[in-house]
Amino acid sequence: MQTTYNTVGVIGAGAMGRGIAQIAAQAGSTVRLYDTQAPAIAKARDELHAQWDRLAGKGRMDSQAVAACKSRLQAASALQELADCDLVVEAIVERLDVKKSLFSQLEEVVRPGCVLATNTSSLSVTAIAAGLKQPQRFAGYHFFNPVPLMKVVEVIAGLKTDPAVCAGLAEYARQMGHTPVQAQDTPGFIVNHAGRGYGTEALRIVSEGITDFATIDRILRDQAGFKLGPFELMDLTALDVSHPVMESIYQQYYDEPRYRPSVITAQRLAGGVVGRKVGEGFYRYVEGKAQIAPEPAAPQVAEMPPVWVSTRAARKSELYQLLKDLGAKIETGQSPSPTALTLVAPLGFDITTVAVVERLDPARTVGIDMLIDDAATKRRVIATNPATREDMRDAAHALLARDGKPVSVIRDSGGFVTQRVVATIVNIASDICQQRICSPADLETAVTLGLGYPLGPLAMGNRWGPTNILEVLFNMQTVYGDPRYRPSPWLRRRGAIGLSLMHEES
Ligand code: NAI
Repeated sequence: MQTTYNTVGVIGAGAMGRGIAQIAAQAGSTVRLYDTQAPAIAKARDELHAQWDRLAGKGRMDSQAVAACKSRLQAASALQELADCDLVVEAIVERLDVKKSLFSQLEEVVRPGCVLATNTSSLSVTAIAAGLKQPQRFAGYHFFNPVPLMKVVEVIAGLKTDPAVCAGLAEYARQMGHTPVQAQDTPGFIVNHAGRGYGTEALRIVSEGITDFATIDRILRDQAGFKLGPFELMDLTALDVSHPVMESIYQQYYDEPRYRPSVITAQRLAGGVVGRKVGEGFYRYVEGKAQIAPEPAAPQVAEMPPVWVSTRAARKSELYQLLKDLGAKIETGQSPSPTALTLVAPLGFDITTVAVVERLDPARTVGIDMLIDDAATKRRVIATNPATREDMRDAAHALLARDGKPVSVIRDSGGFVTQRVVATIVNIASDICQQRICSPADLETAVTLGLGYPLGPLAMGNRWGPTNILEVLFNMQTVYGDPRYRPSPWLRRRGAIGLSLMHEES
């Protein structure tokens, strides 16, 4: 097998180094694995041998390929044994001083044409390269855990990196069966930067007392199609990993409000309630299974009031059709009759503001989230305002649950759960494009492969409408007066003219 780099050094035989060594050997390179802890190398080698045997057992590799991989994986007992490498990838402890010192030693060992790469996830590639004699041959090569299964790698150019080095690393990634994406050297690169919206906005919703963790998880799974809710995800990653990432990206962007972390995770981390691995996070775990209280059943309503829908409701005709299908008695007058349940469907505005602006009786006003069309969701979400009467809330809940679709009832907030979280994700992604950190296409690839979102953030914005997303953000900025909802100019320009977010300016 011909590869871009025939001999590849991997430094650090932990979880990441082992994975990188595996795919490099499978691609056909000779791999020299080095670690300051000799037992770590032996352990990694034994685990990789066992892994290849397992793959052969499953018929995914033949015995010849297994033998070849095993012979290509070689332990290096000193840094000097990496002298003949064409590429060296570092995956050691995440400390700038340790990485810098390693690379300056390595520069003395390897030949001039050897490419040097770091798997850092949070340090600046430029900072690691500073002080090297040949910073132009140095780049970031950021893999995800577990490396063989997470098929994306960020190729990061430092300030002085030669573009040909990035091109070579990208080509080699393809030879290893991975998809490379090109990123500028900025905090969090693409994936860890784009991932800031999901958890932080969900935490913000909880901190405002709008609803609880489990309800937010249900809404984002059922309405927006995420595989895991943000709190399930944080429990899986564990807060001792994810909270420091939130803090680091916020600080590295000089307190940019979009990335502001939450006191909720700071507290939970301090209390050791970090997630599934300790048996308790946002959920309690018994034998590895989250204990989730069942949802309250839809209320029984003896007499259903007539329903009047605001003329300014989002997706008004779809909402009318839905109510008709559910057998509602729909009022069509200019204003609601004195007994009518009044439904509003704002984008970004809270229910209270809508009731006041449209001169509706707040006691009978309930909001429904119509950002996403009803047919595309598995859940409906309604919101009360502080004056909403219980009978009106229950009537809305019972009516919207008539066909068996679950309904979540939340308190008033600018934007419902899905609007807030989706708009924040799209806005952060737009700002990544604005900063030219990567191309829109690479952003989509990185997020779908690296974060497992149902759609790339820009495709998500396109699906629910760039204009709608922009409207959610503008109105939330009005409700909260918080710069975190300020739309990125990139989104603003495209949203204003209703353009696809995948469109690139020439
Ligand atoms: P790990 O703790 O499993 O393994 C690190 C290995 O490096 C250990 O075996 C240690 O003995 C060795 N080591 C430490 N200092 C060394 C030195 N000066 N020279 C040679 N070997 C040294 O760590 P893991 O999880 O494999 O992460 C390694 C790197 O990959 C870190 O920079 C981390 O930020 C990055 N990374 C980690 C991800 C993850 O999910 N674990 C994801 C993406 C990047």
